[in-house]
Amino acid sequence: MSATQLRSMLIIVGFTLIYGRSANAGAVRNLFTKTLCPLYANRGNNNAIGSATPGTPLAVDAASPTSHGRQRVILRGWSPKAATSVLYQAPDVRIVLAKFLTKNNAERTVLRQKTDTYGMVWQQVSISVWVPTTMTVSNASVVWARAQTLYDNRCGSCHALHEPSDFTANEWPGILDAMAKNAAFDPAQTELVTKYLQTHARPN
Ligand code: HEC
Repeated sequence: MSATQLRSMLIIVGFTLIYGRSANAGAVRNLFTKTLCPLYANRGNNNAIGSATPGTPLAVDAASPTSHGRQRVILRGWSPKAATSVLYQAPDVRIVLAKFLTKNNAERTVLRQKTDTYGMVWQQVSISVWVPTTMTVSNASVVWARAQTLYDNRCGSCHALHEPSDFTANEWPGILDAMAKNAAFDPAQTELVTKYLQTHARPN
C-alpha cells in the first residue's frame, strides 16, 4: 500500500469515527403529549404560544436541554403557507398536531413545500418549542388507552360503538362536532377522543 493510499484510508476511518459518533449522540427519539399540552417559546416564559393535541410526537435528542421543569422538543408537521397557526399531520390527513397563537415567536424552519390537488400551498415545518416535562409520556399507547376507555364509556350509550376504522381521519372531526355534546365531553376530552379516532381511522 502506498503512502497516499494509506493516508486516504486513514482519512476515511477518521471521518467514520467522527460522524458515526456525532450521529449517535444526536439520536432522535420521540416523546408524546399526554394530554392537551401548552407550548412555550422558551424555558422561562409563562405565556403559552399554543398547544399540542394529545398523543402528538415530540422529537428529542441528547442535545435537547431540560430546565425549569420544561424540555425543548421539535414538532414536525404541515401547515397551509397562508395559515401557519395550525400544524397538521399531512396536507391530506387533517389530524391537528398543534395550534399556535397567530402572533408567536416559535423557532420555525420550513423543510419543504408542496401544492395539494386544490391548488393550496403547504409547507412541511419543524418547530422548536418547550413543553412541561410532566405532560409527556414515552409511549403513545398510554394516551390511546385512556382515550379508548372514554370512548367506550361515553359513545356507546345511545347506539352501538363505531370502529375507529369506520370513518377516515378527515371524517371524524365533523362527527365529533355533532356528538361531543351528546357525550358531555369537555374540550380536552373532545380533543383526546378526536385524535384517538383519527389516528386509528380508515386510510383516506
Ligand atoms: C345522547 C345519545 C348519543 C351519544 C352519547 C352519542 N351519540 Fe352518536 N348518535 C346519536 C344519534 C341520535 C345519532 C343519529 C342521528 C344523528 O346523526 O344525529 C348518532 C349518530 C352517530 C354516528 C353516525 C353518523 C353517520 O353519519 O352515520 C356516529 C359515527 C356517532 N353517532 C358517533 C358518536 C360518538 C363518537 C360519540 C361519542 C363522542 C357519540 N356518537 C355519542 C346519539 C348519541
